[in-house]
Amino acid sequence: MHNLETKNHRIRILDHEPLTAKCRALEATGFVLLWAVCAIASAAETPVAQKYLPPPWPYHALLVSTGFVVLFAGMLAVRYMKNKRWWLKAHQSLALLGAFITLAGFATAVFMVRIYLGTFFVNEMHAFLGFTIAAMVVLTPILGFMQFRTKDKRVRLIHRWAGRITIVLMLTNIIGGWLIISSSIE
Ligand code: HEM
Ligand code: HEM
Repeated sequence: MHNLETKNHRIRILDHEPLTAKCRALEATGFVLLWAVCAIASAAETPVAQKYLPPPWPYHALLVSTGFVVLFAGMLAVRYMKNKRWWLKAHQSLALLGAFITLAGFATAVFMVRIYLGTFFVNEMHAFLGFTIAAMVVLTPILGFMQFRTKDKRVRLIHRWAGRITIVLMLTNIIGGWLIISSSIE
């Protein structure tokens, strides 16, 4: 009985109305605005960037950037592949893989900061955003699975926006990371 209900609910989620062009344009504008706000907020980190770079930073940068690319591909699967049978499987697998790689990159950052800078937390915007992103890549997949187990439509909406915000924050922090590197190398 429970299985049947879950299956019907899953089908309802997959069968939703396609977005109109106006709706998509509004969403894209919201996405860009959100990114701009995050980028401006994170620009504040540049003056306080460390002058000493912990040597393993390229491993950290590579892992989180790969995580971003995989999560972004997962988002594209939902937005543009919904006419294919496998979109949900692709989204789920890419999302879980991307979250795992990002968390590995996050763990690398915490360890490198602990070993080379002697603290668990560098008090700057990049680290605040980084810890927020780590929480988001755990919370978003939980919401992703939850939307099939509850009839509350808000979960689905919160999952979509949590996913979009995660992507935007990651892009912002990747740019912020390069700002730290360039200001330290000068
Ligand atoms: C989504 C992307 C990213 C996330 C989630 C992230 C996360 C973090 C976190 C949480 C820390 C601080 C760890 C602590 O205080 O314990 C950190 C430090 C650092 N990250 Fe990232 N990072 C990202 C992208 C990048 C990129 C692309 C680069 C380089 C190009 C970079 C370079 C650094 C460096 C050099 C540090 C240590 C020194 C410092 O904070 O001044 N990060 N990162
Ligand atoms: C970090 C992991 C995840 C991220 C970043 C993420 C991101 C997203 C985003 C951005 C969307 C909306 C796409 C759009 O229309 O703009 C979405 C939709 C969706 N996600 Fe995820 N997701 C993640 C994990 C999961 C997981 C584990 C599941 C479970 C199967 C899932 C199921 C779904 C479903 C069913 C939708 C479509 C909802 C709808 O059409 O309204 N997601 N996700």
